[in-house]
Amino acid sequence: MPGESVLIVGGGQAAAQLVVSLRLGGHGGPITLVSDESAPPYQRPPLSKQYLAGELERERLLLRRAEYYESRDVELRLGRRVLSVDRGHKLAVLDNGEELRYDRLVLATGSVLRKLDAPGSDLPGIHYLRSLDDADALHEELAPGRRIVIVGGGYIGLEVAATAAKAGAEVTVLEAEERVMSRVASAAVADWLTGLHRQSGVRIRVGEQVRGFAGRRRVEAVETGNGPFAADAVVVGIGVLPSADLARECGLGEDDGILADEHCRTEDEAVLAAGDCARAVNTALGFAVRLESVQNAVDHGQVAASVILGDPKPYSGVPWFWSDQFHAKLQIAGLARPADETILRGDPTSGSFAAFRLRDDRLTAVEAVSSPRDFMAGKKLIASGSAPDPVQLIDESVALKDLIQA
Ligand code: APR
Repeated sequence: MPGESVLIVGGGQAAAQLVVSLRLGGHGGPITLVSDESAPPYQRPPLSKQYLAGELERERLLLRRAEYYESRDVELRLGRRVLSVDRGHKLAVLDNGEELRYDRLVLATGSVLRKLDAPGSDLPGIHYLRSLDDADALHEELAPGRRIVIVGGGYIGLEVAATAAKAGAEVTVLEAEERVMSRVASAAVADWLTGLHRQSGVRIRVGEQVRGFAGRRRVEAVETGNGPFAADAVVVGIGVLPSADLARECGLGEDDGILADEHCRTEDEAVLAAGDCARAVNTALGFAVRLESVQNAVDHGQVAASVILGDPKPYSGVPWFWSDQFHAKLQIAGLARPADETILRGDPTSGSFAAFRLRDDRLTAVEAVSSPRDFMAGKKLIASGSAPDPVQLIDESVALKDLIQA
């Protein structure tokens, strides 16, 4: 039905992709996008890197300029929240009381920050990083000699650490686990990144439990069991949670993400879920997965559009992620579990190598450090479901592409 009205809740990467794919695919019905942010959908990855460093203008972050939406007859309702959904009547209620009718509702609500609940956690000078406004506020804190203490050594923590150190700040990272990046990377890659940060002057402390924050008018120190860490500003990057409240309140299935099939369809055929908030079946993996990545959001946006356009495509991409820290580019394809075996191709001391992760002889993930060729070939190997010989995998005289089993 080309004239269906589509209501998109959320204004991130998945929402933007959905709009673009719908109009490109010839959808002629009304499209309304409701976002509680003040800017049209923008790229988040630079918020911890070039944008935070002041090297990129705000306008350059926009996925599409405002005129794009205007010219494609897409109604942007910025600075508004959907408070509730009446699925029986296909109505969404906004925070100004307005009711919007839909034929298709797409929940692209993204993630919400995990907050650190400890004494003093509302002191000024304690930052989180998710939005443009967060990045602007944090940018003001970065200056030579400023003591920046970062809680969490994941993607946000390490990327902000690198940006702040490059700006001349004195940076300390406090990670609760025994190593950084434990959610996403092998010990080998985590150790290499830790070394890179330390050589660049970042202090990394693992096994640190934050007990609270001290300060009179502003934060002055982070308190852990091992003593206070003096801080002029603090950044907390301890992960995100799927934003599934709306789905839960209108009775849709949810379990660490809104439950969806391989077409991003929820149990209600009029409602789809896309991006960080969705736990959708991935046919390449063979199970439902919730991912926090640009690629996942783009894939879901395209899949949801294909359903609305009446030609459903399955969600089937091999997951991939990246991170830039100092001069290093980390690229990860696939999904490994902590217990998966790790073997290395290349010499980490050269600054370019890859960690291959294996389970039951199958390749589950590749973590490439400044080695795009290993990343690309590894991704193809994973997509092919190959069980490559580990001896050959680590032999640099063997081309990875030759190991792909048809
Ligand atoms: N104290 C210190 N460290 C903690 C605490 C705590 N109380 N709780 C969690 N951590 C650590 C985790 O062990 C992990 O290393 O914080 C880190 C969080 O890392 P991620 O899960 O990667 O989350 P984050 O860095 O916040 O990034 C969130 O934003 O960059 C995007 O999409 C990307 O998924 C990523 C998301």
